[in-house]
Formats: sequence, C-alpha cells, structure tokens
Amino acid sequence: MNNEPTKFIDENGLRVDGRRTDEIRPMKVDIGVLSRADGSCYLEWGNNKIISAVYGPRELHPRRMQRPDAAVIRYKYNMASFSVEDRQRPGPSRRSSEISKVSSEAFEPVVMTQFYPNTVIDVFSEVLEADAGTRTAAINAATLALIDAGIPLKSLVSACAVGKVDGQLVLDLNKKEDNEGEADLPVAITQDGEITLLQMDGHLTEDEIKQAMELVKNGCQQIQQIQREALLKKFGQYEGADTEIQ
Ligand code: CDP
Repeated sequence: MNNEPTKFIDENGLRVDGRRTDEIRPMKVDIGVLSRADGSCYLEWGNNKIISAVYGPRELHPRRMQRPDAAVIRYKYNMASFSVEDRQRPGPSRRSSEISKVSSEAFEPVVMTQFYPNTVIDVFSEVLEADAGTRTAAINAATLALIDAGIPLKSLVSACAVGKVDGQLVLDLNKKEDNEGEADLPVAITQDGEITLLQMDGHLTEDEIKQAMELVKNGCQQIQQIQREALLKKFGQYEGADTEIQ
C-alpha cells in the first residue's frame, strides 16, 4: 500500500487537473432554461452542474411572515441524491440549511427588495452534479436567474473559493483539493468589492488570508466577466455592463 501523502501540485506548478494555482475551472452558463420559472440559469463549472430557479416576487403566505417595507428573499440550496459519489439522503440537512442561510444573506445587500413589499422572492438552487464549490457555483447561477426574473439588483454577485494545498494557495478548489487540502475559503463579492459571503474551513495565517483574498477577488472578477457575457448574449446591452469590479 502506498502511504505517500497526496501531491497536489507537480514540479511544473500544475494541479491534479492541470490548472495553474490561480486558474478557475471552465464555466458555461445558460440563462432562461426553465419555462415555468420567472427566472432561471443552468451553470456548469468544471464538473459541477447547477440549476437555479427564481419564483416571484409573489405574495408571501402566511401573512405574518410578510415585511411591509420589502420583499423577503428565501434561498434554498439542495443537492440531488445522485449529485455526489455516495447517495445524498434527500431532504434538508445541517449543511444545506447553513448554505441556504449564508447564500440568502449574500444577496440581501444587492436585491432591491424595497420595490416589492409584502412579497417573497424564492430562489432554488439544485445541485445536479457536485465537484466542490457548489455553494459558490449556485450563487453565480442564482444571480443570473434573479436578473432573468427581472428583479433589479444593485450589482452582480460573483462567488469563488480559494484554498490551500501542499502549503500553497490555490483558486477554485476541485473536490480532491477541497476534501483533502488544508483550507477552503468560499467568498462572494459585488461589483463594488463588497464581500457578501465569507466562510472558512481549515487554517490559514493572517498573511495567507490577505493573499487568498487578492487571489479570490481576481477569480470573482473572471466570473463576473463570464456572467456579463452571458447576460449580453441573452439580453444585449444591460445597465452596468461597463462597471468594473474593484
Ligand atoms: O460544494 P461546496 O464546496 O460549496 O461545499 P463543501 O461542503 O465544501 O463540499 C465540497 C464537496 O464535497 C461538494 O461539492 C461535493 O463534491 C462533496 N460532498 C459530498 O460528496 N457529499 C456531501 N454530503 C457533501 C459534499
């Protein structure tokens, strides 16, 4: 039996899937894929496959849950039972509840909920195939699904993870790097550079966190560009197309 620790970065500085440390996986986006949803988006990112659907704004029931000054955003992240190697038990879990909560909060600063009092905006993100980074992939897809639903956003939200393997910081972890690496730090950023999601699993020094934030900001910028291109392809020009992420 080979007891050698896994080597994640080879002598040429390339990762197990051939990427450089600062390279994101290829992303493919398709907006408006569901006819019954108000807005939707299918997103592939490496081996991740995600579909996000938006319903609403629609009247929120029960009425006692309504906000008289704004819409309520309800975000539901779910992994299909066939999306992972071991079958995922259907239904909510601690993990999916946590991801749903932090993802909902990632959108709160950008969705102009004040235009839709007493309503709810339901966002569903379904993971069809998972290969690490699904919460960030789902946020990227949900941003586009919200825009497809015609809901005004102050900014795109772009999300990506950064982590550490073999003592080196790497952008956009794949499953092996995520599960066996030293740290995983998913982040979501608006076009003004506001961080709306920041989580961390594992250990990084203060200096590494600073470097990781630079790396992940760059990753989010690349993703924002992909989101913009997808929007331009679907809708033509849109407001904010020339705004640079900071
Ligand atoms: O997907 P994300 O990185 O946002 O979340 P995670 O909890 O760090 O999970 C990393 C990866 O582990 C997932 O994307 C799946 O590929 C895998 N996973 C799994 O196989 N079974 C689970 N119950 C949870 C995660």
